[in-house]
This record gives sequence, C-alpha cells and structure tokens, in this order.
Amino acid sequence: MAEEEEYGTALIAELYKPPALLPIAQLKDALLYTIETYPVTIIVGETGSGKTTQIPQYLHKAGWTADGSVIAVTQQPRRVAATTVAARVAEEVGCQLGQDVGYSIRFEDVSSAATRIKFLTDGLLLREMLVDPLLKRYSVIMIDEAHERSLSSDILLGLLKKVLRKRPELRVVVSSATLDAKDFLDFFCPVDGEKINGKSKEEYGRIISIEGRMHPVDINYLIEPVSDYVERAVETVMDIHNNEPDGDVLLFLPGREDIDDAIDMIADRITDLAPGTQRLQPLPLYAGLPSDQQLYVFQAAPENTRKAIVSTNIAEASVTIENIVHVIDCGYVKLRAYDPTTGIERLATVPVSKASATQRAGRAGRTKPGKCYRLYTEAAYNAFSDSTPPEIQRSNLAPTILQLMNLGIPNIVRFDYFSNPPSELVVRAMDMLFSLGAISPEAKLTKPLGTRMAELPLSPMLAKALLNAQTFGCLYEMLHIAALLTLSGTAFIAHDGNLKQLDKVKRKFAVEEGDHITLLNVYEAFITTGRKDAQWCRSNFLNYKAMQKAVSVRNQLARHLEKLGISVSSDLSAQRAGGIFSLSPSERIRRCLTTGFFAHAARMKPDGTFQTANGETTLWAHPTSVLFHRKADWVIYDEIMESKGKVFVREVTKIEMDWLVEYAPEYYRVKQR
Ligand code: CDP
Ligand code: MG
Repeated sequence: MAEEEEYGTALIAELYKPPALLPIAQLKDALLYTIETYPVTIIVGETGSGKTTQIPQYLHKAGWTADGSVIAVTQQPRRVAATTVAARVAEEVGCQLGQDVGYSIRFEDVSSAATRIKFLTDGLLLREMLVDPLLKRYSVIMIDEAHERSLSSDILLGLLKKVLRKRPELRVVVSSATLDAKDFLDFFCPVDGEKINGKSKEEYGRIISIEGRMHPVDINYLIEPVSDYVERAVETVMDIHNNEPDGDVLLFLPGREDIDDAIDMIADRITDLAPGTQRLQPLPLYAGLPSDQQLYVFQAAPENTRKAIVSTNIAEASVTIENIVHVIDCGYVKLRAYDPTTGIERLATVPVSKASATQRAGRAGRTKPGKCYRLYTEAAYNAFSDSTPPEIQRSNLAPTILQLMNLGIPNIVRFDYFSNPPSELVVRAMDMLFSLGAISPEAKLTKPLGTRMAELPLSPMLAKALLNAQTFGCLYEMLHIAALLTLSGTAFIAHDGNLKQLDKVKRKFAVEEGDHITLLNVYEAFITTGRKDAQWCRSNFLNYKAMQKAVSVRNQLARHLEKLGISVSSDLSAQRAGGIFSLSPSERIRRCLTTGFFAHAARMKPDGTFQTANGETTLWAHPTSVLFHRKADWVIYDEIMESKGKVFVREVTKIEMDWLVEYAPEYYRVKQR
C-alpha cells in the first residue's frame, strides 16, 4: 500500500502555455556539461524552477537518447505527479503522450517503443530491474525529489550505486532539497583516497544549485491552538476571501476525508456571499481524484472567481499550481506508520516537520509576495521535528525485502541502504515473509511461491491469496477481487454527496460474509450488465471509469499469472468434485483469502468494534464496509487506516478462527504464547 496512492489515472489536458523563461534555463549548459562529465549530478532548486519538466528535455535534445536509449524520471509513488508531468512535457515537446514522452505507473503503461522520456513511479523502476537488472535501456536516470525519502526511492539509490559500478557510462541525476544535497553526493561518491571505475571522489559527482526566485511570504501563527483544524481552515478560507485582494488559496489538509468535509463546508458558506461579489470555487486535490476533476485545479479560474484548492501534501512539492498567494497549513500530514510489535501498518495523521511547513509556506511566494496562515502556534512549530523520518524507518518492509531478495541481493542486512532500517523492522518483515511461505527457515526465497509473490505487482498478502486460488478452485473469483482491491474503494461514488442513497444501492450487492464477496458481486454485475451500459453504473452508484480500470487490471493480473506458468484460461477447477470442492464457493474464497491475510485478523467484541488477534488494538469497521452494521466473530481485513483518532479497517470479511491456525500455524503459535 503506497501512501495516498490508490487510483489515479488519466491526464490533464492542460491548455498549452509556452514555458516562460524558467530559472533552470540559465544553467542549461552547465547542467549538460556536468552530466556529461560526472556519473552523478545532484540538482537543487526551488519547486517550479523547471527540474522535472526541463532536464529530461535538455538531455533528449543533447543526444542522450540518440542511440535509442531512454531517459527515466522517477516520481515518488505519486501517480498523479507522473501523469500530469508527462502530459505537460509531451505538450512542450509537441508529441502525443505515449510517443516520445510517456509514463508508466502500476497497471497503466502509456509508453511505447518510441518513448525516449519516460516518467515512472520509483516502485515501477524497481520492478523493471527484475527483467533488466542493469537498467540497460536507460542512459540517464533521474531520481526526482529524492529528499522526500520514499521507501522505493531510497532503495533505488542503493541499487543505482551498484549499477553505476557495472555501467560507468550510466548517468544518475538526483533532485533534492538543499539540506540533503551533500548527503546524496557522499552516498554515491567514493571515499577519500578510493576510486570507483578509476574515478576519485572529485571526479565522480557534483552538486548544481539553481538560484531561487522566491517572493517573500508573510507567516502568521495562531495565538491559541485549535482542536478542529478543518473548521478553522474553512473559516480562514472565508476570511481571506472576504478581506484579501485577488490571489488563489491553497489549503493543506492531511487526507481525503478532511478534504471532502472542507469542500462541503466551503460550498455551504458560499451561499452566504453577497450577490455580485467575487465568486469562490473550492476544488479538491488528492492522489485518487478522477481525472476530469484534476483539470480544474490546474486551469486558471473563471472570470471574477477565486480558486480555493484543498489538497493533501501532493501540492507541497510534486505538482505546481500557478497563482497561489495564500497558503493555509493545518500542520498535519498523513504518513505511513508501522508498528513492528502489532504488525499494523497504517496511514496516521501526524504533525508535519519544519521542512514541510517551510515548503508549504513557500507555495505562496511563487508569483508575488504571499501569505501563509499556520493553524498552530509558534510554540507548536518550534516543537516540530526538523524533517520527516524517512519511510524506510516507519514501514512494513516485507514487500521491499521480498523484491530485494528476488533481485539477488544476498544479504538484506548488509545492503547499502541510504539510511539503515531499524533491525526490528527487518526482523518483523522476515518473520512475516516466512509465515507467508515466501522464504525458507534459512532466509532464502522459496520456489516457486516466493519468487512468484515477488513478481506479482501486489502486496505479498494479496499475492499469496491469488497464487493459492487455484488450489481452492477460486482463481477467477480471486482475480476479480484482487482487481477491485487495487482500486481502494473508488468503485462506488456518491453523486452530489448522496451517501444514504449510495448505502441503499450498495446493499443490492452486499452479502452477509463481508466486503470481498460483495466486491465480487459488483464485478460480476458490471461485466454482465454495466460494461455496456454507463447509465446502469450511474444508477448503481458505480464509477464507470474505475470499473473499466478494474477489468483492465484483472486482465493484466491474468497475464502475469500466465507468465508465471499458471494457466488462467484452463482453470476448470471449480468443476472438480470432492475434497475442498465440497465446500461452498464463498467458503473456498474466504479460506483462500485467509491464507494471505491471516496477519490481518480481528475479532468482533459485543460492542461491535473489533480487537486484533493479540488483543492490543481496537479497530472499527469503516462505514463503507458491509460489516459496519452486522454481527461477526472473526474477520480478516485488507486495509487499515487511522482517521480522527480511530483506527478503521476496510474490506472486511468473516472467517473462522480455526482457519487461522490451519493456514498460519507458525504465526499463530507465536502469537498465542
Ligand atoms: O520540478 P520543478 O519543481 O523544479 O519544476 P517543474 O515541475 O519542471 O515546473 C516548471 C514549470 O512548469 C512551472 O512553472 C510549472 O508551473 C510549470 N508546469 C505546468 O504548468 N504544468 C505542469 N503539469 C507541470 C509544470
Ligand atoms: Mg519537480
């Protein structure tokens, strides 16, 4: 599960604006010279100076792709960033997206043999190393926004350092914030007195800094802390709108739920505005936002209208929005947090770092002097940590370790990490992979299960369930379920916020056993009826585009399985009799899910909340779950998330306790001691 990264597709068909003279333009020659001369270039510059959009174009024109090589630019797990930037660069280059300029994100490849500049998520570049370990297709690899320290980009740095030893002609460009530039350079370069491929430290890399052109930003703090930052944020938007001259507003909130609340509240108050005054247009921005809605965020506001963009930290650095003069910073961010003792990984809302707060404020000073309203006290700011701890130190490392092992990294502990992960995270991940059957007691990848799990673009838990499906006679069903799970709850939509109605419609598909089989019903109804009938989707509150995407994901997963030697088309197992096949289809599916998700087990208490298997954490079924109102005993769940101090689980399905011990004896023996 990547941070905030669920279902984000499609492109922003922006109106083409010729690139104004960007700050990076003056450094073009110096930059090309440095990249030509040194294996590693660290590039530092304010957001909006042109790093992401211009550097690949400079390299393309300077001949770095003349031999058919490709320039890769990784965006953090942010799918929206990869797609919008690729669309922009395609426009500047004057090509159709997917031709000279393309992008590739999980389950969506818009690139071709003609592609020379390719934007992709860092996780996907990692995956490419499975088939092309030295990344030979690429002449230059740019790790964009490396200072954000996402798990995959940290791992990529370590792998690229190795690749550079074997490919002295490869060029690595790392874009970074000023603070970390030297650390990145030191990481790649040989130490004093040593050489890599005949090059000393001085000959191996350089830092290039782009002069900023920031306008001053006036920072305002609260005198007293607030308890409800959404409410306060909305008041601040209205105050700005009523009292400040022109300039759009950018409001940072931690996640989608808060964003939707804020948008609704602003929409309510707009009705109080005096007729004839300037209008206010509230617009959401988050990773899973449908493409047609992304459009408005980046377009200029209509005449006599002020935009108020309400965004996650995606607008902090990865995407640039013009004309922002007022920034409101709630002071919180949603971060991946992993507790190695409970094994629970979730998105937790936590205070931002000073570095983040500074970056957020800076978004107000791009076009002219701006203002930043911090919805916290100066004392609170002083207590923020300097920077956000890197993801590798607060994540479930099982998926990453599985991939590193599949890449043939012999010793996970001694891998050259940019920052070492804490040993309890590594131990926990190894335990989990062992319980899932992906590694042997000697910590070697098992064949074929472990290697197959590594090769599927799914979490190890879901991969395990899918790979087991054939023995449970439910491969078709699991493919459908897996496809819908990757959409993370975007299948249903509430038109005009009509949640009650949505609930009613949803009950048509709902089954007592829980959400996974409900999703299966949704999928099956869509392929039999909805696919040809967009109106059917609308009246069933289904997101037509998301459902089409699910079909595409399902087919891609089926192809992956075929490549691994698992025949999907000849799966007649459901017709077999006896043994497991005497069980109902529902039970087979739920047992199969348990073989993957046993670590996500919980038991319902009399008050309707759930308790984790070790009894340490209380969980609530998410209101969108069909088990929100129903009784259950043991369940497994797909996702876990924290919102407003409560821990919710999504996609919950009833199981039997015996199954846990049956399918994960090691895991539950340890647990129940
Ligand atoms: O990577 P960096 O933050 O240095 O800048 P960039 O993303 O390359 O953006 C350079 C310029 O292109 C900025 O003025 C952006 O506003 C503009 N841009 C845009 O208008 N639309 C996009 N989708 C991306 C960038
Ligand atoms: Mg950029």
